[in-house]
Amino acid sequence: MTDQTPGTVTITLDGTNKSSTIKLLEGTIGPAVADIRKLYADLGIFTYDPGYGGTAACESKITYIDGDEGVLLHRGYPIEQLAMNSSFLEVAHLLLNGELPNAAEKHDFDMGVMRHTMLHEQIRSIYQGFRRDAHPMAVMCGVVGALSAFYHDSLDVNNPDHRRISAFRLIAKVPTIAAWAYKYTIGQPFMYPRNDLGYAENFLYMMNAVPAEPYHVNPVLARAMDRIMILHADHEQNASTATVRLSGSTGANPFACIAAGIASLWGPAHGGANEAVLKMLAEIGHVDNVKPFLDQVKDKNSHSRLMGFGHRVYKNFDPRAKILQATCHEVLAELGIKNDPLLDLAMELEKIALHDEYFIARKLYPNVDFYSGIILKAMGIPTSMFTALFAVSRTVGWISQWKEMMEDPSQRIGRPRQIYTGAAQRDYVAIDQRA
Ligand code: CMC
Repeated sequence: MTDQTPGTVTITLDGTNKSSTIKLLEGTIGPAVADIRKLYADLGIFTYDPGYGGTAACESKITYIDGDEGVLLHRGYPIEQLAMNSSFLEVAHLLLNGELPNAAEKHDFDMGVMRHTMLHEQIRSIYQGFRRDAHPMAVMCGVVGALSAFYHDSLDVNNPDHRRISAFRLIAKVPTIAAWAYKYTIGQPFMYPRNDLGYAENFLYMMNAVPAEPYHVNPVLARAMDRIMILHADHEQNASTATVRLSGSTGANPFACIAAGIASLWGPAHGGANEAVLKMLAEIGHVDNVKPFLDQVKDKNSHSRLMGFGHRVYKNFDPRAKILQATCHEVLAELGIKNDPLLDLAMELEKIALHDEYFIARKLYPNVDFYSGIILKAMGIPTSMFTALFAVSRTVGWISQWKEMMEDPSQRIGRPRQIYTGAAQRDYVAIDQRA
């Protein structure tokens, strides 16, 4: 590949006189992107990028990440400023609509979302079909997907009003779905949402309250939960968002697409990592065991990883992890937890890993999941709910990305190609003639 003129790259197919001049597309910030759409027509070749590490699959105005510098911007605003000054629903407005709302818009948006928090009463019975020990993510995949069976009035993906109402319904209902998934596993009555509470506050209420007595949500914990939700709201074209976009590219309804996103998020390399961090810390058990554990992680044959470390894009500190580290101390102080053995262990692990040649050479830093698990545990959220909580927060990003894609006139079905390495064409052999 050689530079031709500024703004283009020319690829010449060695041994032929065929070449393709490829336009470089410029975003607002970030590296230029080679527009390879004509490559197959010009040269008869595909590009190969398993894991999509060097591929831009769409144009987006929502989130920007500079992984080398550890920068995360939503609609241009740094995540640090949003986490400190904004609220989850305000960030939801920003992601969905492109701008921070003024006071009247904020009021309308908050009301617009919160009036949809209840679930259709028949959805209660769907829960009875699950085993009591079902993982909340399994329940979420099922119940969120089932919403499409309840909202026939808003399934026309080409209708902007339908898209807006579906976005509101999803953002409003996922906390109720997640909280009920938890209540179901512990055999407590489902708590109906309270629209007089804030978004995060209502989620904590539905998880922790019981009908038999009043329940007051600790405002420090509600604020911490709101911040955790902001930090998880969107993250550019990660695996689950790419899943939502790919599903949506077929014209599938948004409830089905978000259910697909939830399934993708569940894996331990993605949103399931926060739960995996806690399991890992429990397995390590004591600071004395940190060193042998890290030796095991560094051994390729062990197939184990330091959960909560490393990121496909960040080759520096995940900015969300830094904010969570500070929030973690606030929450522990509020709860009067002075010496939390789990946190001590996490700190020791972080300290040793950050000075270890293996992690330095591979630019592996703590990611958002490293601290979120510790805070959530301190807040009394059961481990099995960590990834569900991530799904609740990320629903905003998923639906914003889905909406952006549906409004993009150049949108077409996502359909990757492959290098076929199987058998070449051959003739069918009758069963009695096979070896
Ligand atoms: N522990 C030990 N080694 C690691 C780790 C880790 N957590 N992450 C990457 N490596 C090594 C990997 O073995 C490879 O080494 P080598 O070059 O010697 O073969 C090198 O670092 C590059 O790794 P990779 O697998 O090519 O990197 P990737 O971009 O495909 O994977 C990742 C990114 C996040 C899946 C991976 O770092 C990982 O599995 N981390 C642990 C799980 C985790 O914390 N996930 C949460 C991600 S952030 C939130 C979210 O997205 O949901």
